[in-house]
Amino acid sequence: MLYGVGIGPGDPELMTLKAARILAAARVIAFFAKRGHQGHARRIATAHVRDGAEEIRLEYPVTTELPVEDPRYLAQMADFYADSAALIARRLDQGLDVAVLCEGDPFFYGSFMYLYDRLRPAYQSEIVPGITGMGGCWTRAGLPMTHGDDVLTILPGTLAEADLVTGLERADAAVIMKIGRNLPKVRAALAQAGLSERAIYVERGTMADERILPLKDMKDRPAPYFSIILVPGRQGRR
Ligand SMILES: C[S@@+](CC[C@H](N)C(=O)[O-])C[C@H]1O[C@@H](n2cnc3c(N)ncnc32)[C@H](O)[C@@H]1O
Repeated sequence: MLYGVGIGPGDPELMTLKAARILAAARVIAFFAKRGHQGHARRIATAHVRDGAEEIRLEYPVTTELPVEDPRYLAQMADFYADSAALIARRLDQGLDVAVLCEGDPFFYGSFMYLYDRLRPAYQSEIVPGITGMGGCWTRAGLPMTHGDDVLTILPGTLAEADLVTGLERADAAVIMKIGRNLPKVRAALAQAGLSERAIYVERGTMADERILPLKDMKDRPAPYFSIILVPGRQGRR
């Protein structure tokens, strides 16, 4: 069985009982990590990984060094996902279950989906949903996000500035993911949409080194990849 296990936004207590049970039993786990880093998912899952489990570390060949639309990025990532799927398939072919650790929810902007697309035609799979990063972040920020018929718009910060503005102008409440190097562009788009005052910045939400502050108070220093911007909806409307 291929398991895609959502392990939540960072705080290890924000993991489902089902995820913890599957991890405690898994003889083989796999997880994505940036070169030279432990990997967020692996760190979050530490307390739940079975002693002696085999660990398949899937190290991204490239992360933020190249823009996502760069053909070199696309080619390298396609090879990487094909090789990663092949590594996991080898274990599945031996009759072993493999649990892939997924930060947040596996089907929400997760790298796991690229493995799942390749493996699901040939193997049995089970997905365990997880609390998303945005859910963890808006909870920690104390931000009720949507009331009544508010429309929530989720935008990747990798979009072009004009597309961000269009999305934000239509939104009642908004979440902007994948901030990192996109911060100056996202900030400009929020200003154009008239939302700068309402925007809250959350870095590594629910993790030990979390930071939460109004975006307007965030001085121009780089944002890490694990940061998000939240614009709550029309608060208090019935
Ligand atoms: C590739 S997506 C993965 C999303 C994940 N599958 C989920 O369910 O939230 C990574 C982006 O999610 C956001 N994110 C996820 N967890 C976060 C957290 N704990 N704090 C801040 N941002 C987070 C960031 O915007 C980050 O760039």
